Amino acid sequence: MLTINNRIKDIYAHPVGRDIIKKTLLQMGYKDTIVKNPIIGNIKLKALPTLTIGKVNGGFLSALLELLNSEHDTPRIDTSPVSPAWWKEAVFYQIYPRSFKDNNSDGIGDLCGILEKLDYLKMLGVDAIWLSPIYDSPNDDNGYDIRDYRKIMTEFGTMEDFDKLLEGIHSRGLRLIMDLVVNHTSDEHEWFKKAISEPDSQYGDYYIFRNEPNNWTSFFGGSAWNFYEKRGQYALHLFSKKQMDLNWENPTVRNEVKEMVRWWLQKGVDGFRMDVVNYISKRDGLPDGNEHIGTLMGFYGVEHYFYGPRLHQYLRELKSEAFAPFNAFSVGETPGIGMKMRKLLTDDYRGELDMVFLFDHLETPGHVRFDDYKYDLNYYKEYMINMIENLGCHSHASLFYENHDNTRMISKVDPDPQFRIVLAKLLATIQLTFPGTPFIYQGQELGMVNKKFTSIDALRDVESLNLYAELRKTISEAEAFKKIMAGTRDHARTPMQWTSDKYAGFSDTEPWIGTDNDCKICNAEAQISDEGSVWSFYRILIELRRTHTALIYGNINIVNKKKRDLFTYYRADKSETFYIECNLSRKVIKRKSKLQSGIRLISNYAEAQELQLMPYEVAVWMIKKD
Ligand code: NOJ
Repeated sequence: MLTINNRIKDIYAHPVGRDIIKKTLLQMGYKDTIVKNPIIGNIKLKALPTLTIGKVNGGFLSALLELLNSEHDTPRIDTSPVSPAWWKEAVFYQIYPRSFKDNNSDGIGDLCGILEKLDYLKMLGVDAIWLSPIYDSPNDDNGYDIRDYRKIMTEFGTMEDFDKLLEGIHSRGLRLIMDLVVNHTSDEHEWFKKAISEPDSQYGDYYIFRNEPNNWTSFFGGSAWNFYEKRGQYALHLFSKKQMDLNWENPTVRNEVKEMVRWWLQKGVDGFRMDVVNYISKRDGLPDGNEHIGTLMGFYGVEHYFYGPRLHQYLRELKSEAFAPFNAFSVGETPGIGMKMRKLLTDDYRGELDMVFLFDHLETPGHVRFDDYKYDLNYYKEYMINMIENLGCHSHASLFYENHDNTRMISKVDPDPQFRIVLAKLLATIQLTFPGTPFIYQGQELGMVNKKFTSIDALRDVESLNLYAELRKTISEAEAFKKIMAGTRDHARTPMQWTSDKYAGFSDTEPWIGTDNDCKICNAEAQISDEGSVWSFYRILIELRRTHTALIYGNINIVNKKKRDLFTYYRADKSETFYIECNLSRKVIKRKSKLQSGIRLISNYAEAQELQLMPYEVAVWMIKKD
C-alpha cells in the first residue's frame, strides 16, 4: 500500500502512477524526464504540498493514493508471440453519418447514403466501418444522446435500411462496428423519464441521483448536475444537460446494456466502439473533485471516475456475457488513460477490451484543443516511440489523428496550403506503416482541412456553443470566436466532399452544416482519377499494408530516435523489410545515403531528390530478403 511516506519514484513505478504523473506533466507542458532525475524521484510525497506551494495539496495526494491503491495488478512483461486477429490486420474507416452522404435530399446524411458509397470504401481498400451513433435521439449531441437503443434515428432511415446496409457491408467482405454509448442516455430515454416520474419503480435507481450536488463539472460547461423538481433530487450528467449518466452500480442497468449489446450482435454487427467507457464506474460516495486537479485538467471530479473502482469488473462482465459469445470486437474510447493503464484494460489475457483509443498524442505538451498553436510533429514521433516501448506483446494499438471530436490534423500541423498534400501523405504513411490498427476518419483520405466558418451562427456543436457562451462572459466576440475556431468539433463534421458541385456532392439541398469552396480543389471524384492525389496515396498504402504482413505483424526498429525532424524506422518480418523515412518539418533534410533500391513510394517531389528529403516528404522502401 502506498502512503504519503512513499517517494515520487515509487509512484512512477506503479502503472497507474506513471500514467498520472505523465498526464499531469503533459498538461503542465513538461516531459516526464524530470521524474527520472534522482533528486526529484527521491522526494517524499508528504513534502510536495510545501515544495509546490500548495499546488499538490493533501486532497491531491489522497485522491492519487486512493486511485493507486485500488489497482493491485501490474501488466505482465513477457514476450510470447502476438496472436493474430482480423481487427489487428484491418484498416477501419469512421463514418459520421450525419455528414457522409445524404440520399433523401433533406440535407442530412443517412443510411441509404452510406449504402450508396460502400463501393467507394471498397475501392479505397478499407476492411471495416465504425459508424458513429445512428440510434433514435433528440440530437442534443448529434446522436451521442440516445433515446432508444433499438430504433434508428428517423433522419437516418429505418431498421430496414439498416438491415440492407449491414447486408451490403458484409456482402462486400467488410465489417461493421457500431457506437455503444452507455455511460449515459438521453434524458428523453424511457428509463430516465420513468426514473423521474416513478422514482419507486425499478427505474428509480437507473441513474445517479443525489440530494445535494458535488462540485463535479460537465465536459460541456457548468455543473454536472441538473435538479429535477418532481423527484426533488439532482441527477448527474458528465456531458450535456440532456445526457444523463447511467448508474452502473445497479446490476439491472448492466444487464439491460448486455441484453442490448447481444441484440445488435445477434443482428450480425461485428463489434462496438465504446463511448467514454472508462467513465462508467464512479467512486463510492461521489466525493468532491480536488480543486487543483480540476484547474489543471479543466474539469472537476475526473479523478473519481476516469479509472473508477469497478471499471475492470464491469468490462469483464460485458466481455464474457455479451461480446465473447459472439466473438465480437471492442474498442474503448478512454480519455485520460495512459500507456500503462492501456495494458491493464486491453492485454489479451485480461478479458476486458480488445483495443482503446488514447488521446495524448492529439495535442502537444501544455496545449488543449481550443488553443491556437502549431503542432510540432517531433512530439508525435516521441509519443510513438514511447508507445512502442510500452506496448508489449499482449496489447494492440489503435492509430488515429482525426475523428468527429477533433480538428483536422493537417490544419493543426501546418495550415499553409502549399504543404497540404505532402503533409496528408506523411500522416498517411506513419498511420499505415506503424504497428497498430489504423482508423481513418471520413475525408482524411482526401486531405480535408478545417473550415473557415464565418460566424458562431454557422456552428452546430453543443460543446462549441456552450463554450462560446461561457467565454463571452469574460472576453470579446472576436476573441471568443477565435478560440472556438481553434478547437471546434464542427471542423470535422462538415459534409464529406464528394464532388466539386454545389454542396460538395453531399446533398442536393442545403446541408445541416455549411460547406465552403474547398470542394472545388479537394473532392473524391477528382482524386480517384488522379494518381498523385492524397486519395490514391492512401489506396496504395492500404494495399501495401494488406499484402505485406511485415507492415502488420513485423517488428519495428526505430533509428535515429533522438534526431529532430526525421522519423525513420524499419518494419520487418522473415521475408521482407520496409524502410520508412519521414521528414517531419518544412526543412530540407540531407539524406545520409542515396535512396535504396526496391519498391518505392515517395510522397511528392517525384524522383529528383536522391540526396534530399524535401519538406514533409516521405519515402517507403521495400527491401526483399531472399
Ligand atoms: C465521446 C464522443 O465521441 C463525443 O462525440 C460525445 O460528445 C461524448 N463522448 C459524449 O457521448
